[in-house]
Amino acid sequence: MVRLSAENLDISYGERKIVKNLSLQIPDKKITTIIGSNGCGKSTLLKALTRVIPHQGGSIVLDGEEIAKENTKLLARKMAILPQTPESAPGLTVGELVSYGRFPYQKGFGRLTAKDYEIINWALDVTGTQFFKYHPVDALSGGQRQRVWIAMALAQETEMIFLDEPTTYLDMAHQLEILELLQKLNQDQHRTIVMVLHDLNQASRFADHIIAMKSGEIVKSGTSQEVITPEVLKTVFRIDADIGIDPRTQKPICITYNLIKGA
Ligand SMILES: Nc1ncnc2c1ncn2[C@@H]1O[C@H](COP(=O)(O)OP(=O)(O)OP(=O)(O)O)[C@@H](O)[C@H]1O
Ligand SMILES: [Mg+2]
Repeated sequence: MVRLSAENLDISYGERKIVKNLSLQIPDKKITTIIGSNGCGKSTLLKALTRVIPHQGGSIVLDGEEIAKENTKLLARKMAILPQTPESAPGLTVGELVSYGRFPYQKGFGRLTAKDYEIINWALDVTGTQFFKYHPVDALSGGQRQRVWIAMALAQETEMIFLDEPTTYLDMAHQLEILELLQKLNQDQHRTIVMVLHDLNQASRFADHIIAMKSGEIVKSGTSQEVITPEVLKTVFRIDADIGIDPRTQKPICITYNLIKGA
């Protein structure tokens, strides 16, 4: 089943077209990862799919409706996005920031209910940030802050979660913790996860579906086995990669690679 799809999508900044005639379907209740080189349009695509920015051509349809026509609060109950470089107001505490995730459920002047507090605490617990609840966000380390932003996205309790490079700033163990948490949310609660990842082996390991982009277009999409191949990586990143099979997950992994010089 597909709840979210795009057809012939064009996205521009001013005169400059970044995403060109792109069509995709996001498989429901699965994990999709988006890969591609710096500047190819991954964040731009993610922002348009979540209506953070408008698209100029084509259509994005969620549950049979053009996303552009969807009510803002309703949309925020369906999809949460963690941007690549999120920014919070100076002095805001972790608990306050995570509570913003409850905005789509608030009525009138928006007092938090017991249920809101319960979910905020759950989000702090599963991201390991409960300890920082009363600390200012700007006093945290990059990795701690990243986990707090993930907590805010989780507090939004949406069926679809979009994350733009969620493992940035995180050490190896915390990267795996976050990816495993997202995998658990997908498996136990059937949430649809769409994330941009630069680490190809993580993209391969955690994805049911991978989208490989180049210059605003999709070069290849499919399973890890279909996308993490020497041919696709050569086209997308101009690298000559040795691909093996991860003995623990049976997914393709990039063992080593070289740049293709003069290509
Ligand atoms: N707000 C903006 N205004 C104008 N141009 C922009 C804006 N945001 C991005 N761009 C340009 O659009 C192109 C795609 O940017 P985008 O952020 O989507 O790339 P990306 O694939 O996410 O790259 P990265 O891996 O570095 O995050 C880049 O050339 C960038 O300079
Ligand atoms: Mg980006």
